[in-house]
Amino acid sequence: MRILFASSEAHPLIKTGGLADVSGSLAAALVEQGHDVRLILPAYAAVTRNHRWRELGTLTLPGVRGRLALLEGTLPGTDVTVWLVDAPLYFDRAGDPYRAPDGRDWQDNHLRFGLFSRVIAALAQGIGPTDWQPDILHCNDWQTGLAPALLADIPDRPASVFTIHNLAYQGLFPKSAFIELELPGALWATDGLEFYGQISFIKGGLVFADRLTTVSPTYAREIRTPQYGCGLEGLLNQRAEVISGILNGIDTHTWNPRTDRYISQPYEPTDRVAKGHNRAALRAEFGLDDSHPGPLFGHIGRMVEQKGIDLILAALEPLLASGRAQAVILGSGEQRFEQALQRLAARYPRQLGVQIGYDERIAHYIEAGADAFLMPSRFEPCGLNQLYSLCYGTLPIVHRTGGLADTVSDATPETLAAGTANGFVFDTSSTAGLAAALERAIEAWKQPELWATLMATGAARDSSWQRSAAEYETLYRELHSPG
Ligand code: ADP
Ligand code: GLC
Repeated sequence: MRILFASSEAHPLIKTGGLADVSGSLAAALVEQGHDVRLILPAYAAVTRNHRWRELGTLTLPGVRGRLALLEGTLPGTDVTVWLVDAPLYFDRAGDPYRAPDGRDWQDNHLRFGLFSRVIAALAQGIGPTDWQPDILHCNDWQTGLAPALLADIPDRPASVFTIHNLAYQGLFPKSAFIELELPGALWATDGLEFYGQISFIKGGLVFADRLTTVSPTYAREIRTPQYGCGLEGLLNQRAEVISGILNGIDTHTWNPRTDRYISQPYEPTDRVAKGHNRAALRAEFGLDDSHPGPLFGHIGRMVEQKGIDLILAALEPLLASGRAQAVILGSGEQRFEQALQRLAARYPRQLGVQIGYDERIAHYIEAGADAFLMPSRFEPCGLNQLYSLCYGTLPIVHRTGGLADTVSDATPETLAAGTANGFVFDTSSTAGLAAALERAIEAWKQPELWATLMATGAARDSSWQRSAAEYETLYRELHSPG
């Protein structure tokens, strides 16, 4: 099938989070299955500068400022064809896809991703510099949300799928943005794009796509409740019949401890001695005490409330004070969390290592060197680091929510007897909940055989895309040849 896969980021070209990992690796898995895929992204400065592209031709859309062209190239390390929407006045800037170098959102994000969505909708109809037309349009997150809305009334349009990677990010802008975008007036409605007086980009996908998916079965249920629905649960319940949850896979070339080119010593995930070398390397990297007897906890992530970084801070402190554990934390986000972590690391320099910023190499170092990985997320649509951790023999400690609940099985007498235990799961999203799970992990750490069993069960889990990509394929086929 011909699939136009639209996303605002894709690893290894441009990444701020898990959306990039999934867009890059799912597109590659679909190509491996024999599909004809075009992965479409905005032509950000970081993408055009560092890779080679050829121009397919220009496009004309009313109201667009400056040049508008389509570039073609490949996703590095794969056979995926990439299309870039080259509109320099919108995308050729320093900073990340959404924010200026000072960390603030670009003031014209509605125009930037409005344009991106308009180009996607045009190409989906075969309008543009190529005669390639998709059977399926697969959009991801709010940045592509207007495309299904713009296509809704077009006869003979391709079927559309919209994947929710995180319902908390909705692309909300004031009504003036709706007017500036010159969208059809009929879309300003509660069963259109309007959301409590604002324009909601994500509603374009949620209301108008033929099928909705999210990135784990549990999150697919959670988003239909007031607790997780972000005010959209009513709409999602109306559309319940077209929603499904398909668990993310991972890129098993990039995230494989046996071949990882970033880490100190590649290893078999069940080999505790070799893993010990990586722990020593991680401790050395952060100047931590190499003879500490307790476990070394790791954490990587955006420092925002979603990820429970405040819970980590609170639960870790007493363990550091009593000398019972070490930890290494990598990430960036809200300043109050960054600063609190740095203060804590200054108090316990031999036990806590903190690096603020984005660093791929250190991320691999942590997955390889930590004994256990902390993910106390308040909600987590899927989560990728717990999957990387399982592959690396690094036991995940997680809150029972979303994709964490679907992939980590708590070590209890029952799950141990059943051979499914692979980590530690807690039910109450609080410091006490996390602290109790950390206590259980520290106790298990003192029992080498038990710990080795949990590592082996985790490492045996197949997190490759094979199964999930087949689920997307089934979905596409249902849409392409209905009945
Ligand atoms: P989310 O997309 O909500 O941020 P995920 O768990 O799905 O969460 O994916 C996050 C991805 O981003 C993972 O690949 C993780 O390793 C990576 N990541 C997050 N923060 C950093 C960082 N500071 N340095 C390197 N990689 C990071
Ligand atoms: C989002 C979610 C995360 C998920 C990722 C990829 O960023 O927060 O849970 O793993 O998308 O689907």
